[in-house]
Amino acid sequence: MAKRSKSSQRWLNRQKRDYFAGQARREGRVSRAHFKLAQLDERFSLVVPDIWVLELGAAPGGWTSYLAERVSKGRVVAVDPLPVTAPSARVEVVAGRVGDEAVASRVEAILGASGRPPLVDLVLSDMAPNISGVRAADQARAMDLAELAAAAAARWLAPGGGLVVKLMQGDGVDAWIKAAKAAFDKVGMVKPTASRSESREVYAVAQGYRAQGFPGVL
Ligand SMILES: C[S@@+](CC[C@H](N)C(=O)[O-])C[C@H]1O[C@@H](n2cnc3c(N)ncnc32)[C@H](O)[C@@H]1O
Repeated sequence: MAKRSKSSQRWLNRQKRDYFAGQARREGRVSRAHFKLAQLDERFSLVVPDIWVLELGAAPGGWTSYLAERVSKGRVVAVDPLPVTAPSARVEVVAGRVGDEAVASRVEAILGASGRPPLVDLVLSDMAPNISGVRAADQARAMDLAELAAAAAARWLAPGGGLVVKLMQGDGVDAWIKAAKAAFDKVGMVKPTASRSESREVYAVAQGYRAQGFPGVL
């Protein structure tokens, strides 16, 4: 196959981005991120009506509204320091940063009041740091967030549960994946087509939590 020039690749990337941005506008979605989770869900069957979901890095709420439409019997606990659009009584928003004890206490309180074991069936993290432009520093911050997501799973994920985490390809990812493989039955790496192809973003999808922590990361 003929190799594309850089400018035609850029053009194709822009078209794809505009396509999902346009689709988000036409369908009244909060953000184009909606389609990333939709594609992951279609492939891995992650979201079913009666699950409890812990969503980390939820603002502005594209994933939250996708979840709110589908989790009709369970609950979604959505965490972010920024405002999250929460279109359903099934969504509890926790305003703050993952890693802060006040946030952990609020999550504990919500799960503790659930009348079921204080654990969730699915942990999702789309957390991303503010980008400084210094690649090594940005990569280190992205990996810090991936470790916070792993810590949240180790604390609140039920045996057999699933974990989806945004990762930036680079230093630290291989070690994180190795730890996830020790903690889950199955781990895959995916780049949804709704994700910009020029970004280093990928998603780790881990299923079948063995409930023995995250050896090597935590
Ligand atoms: C790419 S956006 C998430 C988009 C979201 N999934 C959606 O569909 O609208 C990344 C989010 O991660 C959040 N974030 C970054 N660090 C965080 C932390 N320590 N705790 C919670 N959220 C964090 C940011 O505030 C930002 O809203």
